[in-house]
Amino acid sequence: MNSPTQHQVDLSTPLKFAYWVPNVSGGLVVSTIEQRTDWSFDYNRELARIAERSGFEYALTQTRYAASYGADKQHEATSFSLALLAATEKLKVIAAVHPGMWHPGVLAKFVITADHLSNGRAAVNIVSGWLKAEFVNFGLPWLVHDERYVRTEEFIRVLRGLWTEKGFSHTGKYYNIADFTLQPAPVAVAGRPHPEIFFGGNSTAAQATAGRVADWYFSNGKDLDGFSENISGVLAAAVPLGRRPRFGLNGFVIARDTEKEARETLREIVAKAHKPAVEGFRDAVQEAGPATKDGKGMWTDSSFEDLIQYNDGFKTQLIGTPEQIATRIVEYKKRGVNLLLTCYLHFQEELATFGRDILPIVRELEADAARQADVELVVA
Ligand SMILES: Cc1cc2nc3c(=O)[nH]c(=O)nc-3n(C[C@H](O)[C@H](O)[C@H](O)COP(=O)(O)O)c2cc1C
Repeated sequence: MNSPTQHQVDLSTPLKFAYWVPNVSGGLVVSTIEQRTDWSFDYNRELARIAERSGFEYALTQTRYAASYGADKQHEATSFSLALLAATEKLKVIAAVHPGMWHPGVLAKFVITADHLSNGRAAVNIVSGWLKAEFVNFGLPWLVHDERYVRTEEFIRVLRGLWTEKGFSHTGKYYNIADFTLQPAPVAVAGRPHPEIFFGGNSTAAQATAGRVADWYFSNGKDLDGFSENISGVLAAAVPLGRRPRFGLNGFVIARDTEKEARETLREIVAKAHKPAVEGFRDAVQEAGPATKDGKGMWTDSSFEDLIQYNDGFKTQLIGTPEQIATRIVEYKKRGVNLLLTCYLHFQEELATFGRDILPIVRELEADAARQADVELVVA
C-alpha cells in the first residue's frame, strides 16, 4: 500500500479552505434546530464576500434537482456558481456536476465561458450520483454503481482533452468526439493547466477513478484513520501513473468558547434531527457505497447521527474550542489533507468566526509542524 507520508504529505504549502455553498434549502444538517443559514442568492452573495475576506480560497456548490433529506428547494449549481463568481474577486467557485446529466463538450464550453467571465476562477466537482430518482424520473439511464465510474472517468478524460488540446478526438463507450477545438481555450493561469477538476466519492471504484484522472479528491467526513485509508486507495491508482492528486476533506465545524458548549450544540442538532428525512436519506443512499461489491463507499458505516450531516461531517470532529479545532485540522494536514471543506449551522457568522479565531491558530501550528519536519512553509 502507498502510504501518504511517503508520497503526499505537503507541509510546505499552507492549507487551503473551502465552504459548502448553501444553495439548497434547509441548511447543511437535517435538523429542526434553528439554522440562520439561507439558500437565497442575497444570503449567498454576502457569504461569498465574507469568505473571501476571511481567508477562504474556494466555495463548492451542490448539484441537486429534486428534494431529498429535506433540501426541498434547490438552486442549480452551474448558474449559481457563475453568479457567485460575478459577485466576488478572488474566490474560486467549484460547481458540482453529474456526468449522465451533462455532455462533457457542453460542460467544457460552459466552464470556459465562466472562466473568462471570472478571470480564471471557475472549477468543477465531478460527482457520480446516488439519488436514483433524479435520473430515472428525468428518463435518464441509471447505471449500476461501478459502471457510473467508468462513465465518469471517460467524461473527465474528454473534459480535460477539450480544455487542453486542439483538434481533440475521442472514441469511447459513452462519448465520441471528432476533431474538436474549443475557442477560446480556458484562461491561462500560472500553475493551472486548465480549470481544476475536483472529484467526490468514497468507494473503491471512486478512489481508483480519482487516482487516475482527478486533480483533487474530495472525501466525505472521516476520522483520522478513515481519511488515511481513503487517501491510500487513491494513491494506489495515482502513484504508478506518476500522478499526484491533492486531497480535500469535509468537516462540520462547531466552534464555541468551551468544548462543553460545542458538544451541547451537537447534542441539540441530533436531538432535533428530522427523523423521517434522515431515514428517507438512509434509504436513498443504498445506491451509493452499500451498492458496491465490497461494501465500501460512502455512507456504508454511517450511523443515524452521522447522516444528519449528509456528508458525514461530524465524523471529522471539528467540535470544540478554536484551539482544539485548529489542532485537529493540523493533524489532518499531517495525514495528507491539502484543503478543508467546511460547513456550519449559521454560515455567515460561523464562517467569519472560523477566519478570525481558528485560521490564525492553524497558520501558527502548521508553521510549527513545518519547522519540526525541517521544511519551509511557503506562504504565497
Ligand atoms: C465533497 C462531496 C461533494 C458531493 N457533492 C454532491 C452533489 O452536489 N450532488 C450529488 O448528487 N452528489 C454529490 N456527492 C456524492 C457523489 O455523487 C457520490 O454519490 C458519492 O460520493 C457516493 O459515491 P460512492 O458510492 O462511490 O462512495 C458528493 C460527494 C462528495 C464527497
